Amino acid sequence: MKKFIVCNWKMNGSLDYIQTLNNYFVKLAPSSLAHEIVICPQSPYLKSCKDTLPSWIHIAGQDCNTKEMGAFTGCIAAYTLKECGATFCLIGHSERRGYFQESLEEINEKIKCAQDACLTPIVCVGEALDHRENFTHKDIIKEQVISALKILKGDYYIAYEPIWAIGTGRSASLFDIEEMCSFIQDMTGLSNVFYGGSVTPSNASEILKLTCVRGLLVGGACLKLETFSPLVERKES
Ligand code: PGA
Repeated sequence: MKKFIVCNWKMNGSLDYIQTLNNYFVKLAPSSLAHEIVICPQSPYLKSCKDTLPSWIHIAGQDCNTKEMGAFTGCIAAYTLKECGATFCLIGHSERRGYFQESLEEINEKIKCAQDACLTPIVCVGEALDHRENFTHKDIIKEQVISALKILKGDYYIAYEPIWAIGTGRSASLFDIEEMCSFIQDMTGLSNVFYGGSVTPSNASEILKLTCVRGLLVGGACLKLETFSPLVERKES
């Protein structure tokens, strides 16, 4: 079963970088790529990613709105993401839950909009450091996953991203990743759990060896070709 490398560009990336990636991909034989690649650019770059990059690269939104369409200035509808070439959509990233105070209900409205637009949701869940310190991390993850499972149907993925590991250079340990991804997999009953949080070329292959990890959600390391390419290329052993 192929694993996924999901690249979350957040509020980064550029038309130049899309071209750099394309120059890299065209020189590569597809057989040298070990994984399915999903790129999540800022929304204005979706169409350019779709039109420029090889067709086997999957494109994803980083978020969608809770409403199908209408008078919501500045918001982006799931159907628009789809029309611009996305087939996946991140939902409930901890930066959205934190900075934008997204509630479990809003996250479920977004999941519904994404599914109605035929986008595959990648629902992000994660605990803060104090949840870990109080030993309530499993409770919070269970609450987030069970809530999303009320609405999720068909194809979907859950990305386990402990907030304290995102962008900090401090990835969760293999033990913690295995424990939490298995815990989530037991709830979904599917092999559909990703890990994210300070993934780099040096820890990616060990994490991907865990059978309960179906893929990686990568932020910082996918923003430069030097760190992106070792994540996606097949290692000769
Ligand atoms: P990071 O971000 O790889 O920079 O830690 C991951 C994410 O937020 O999805």
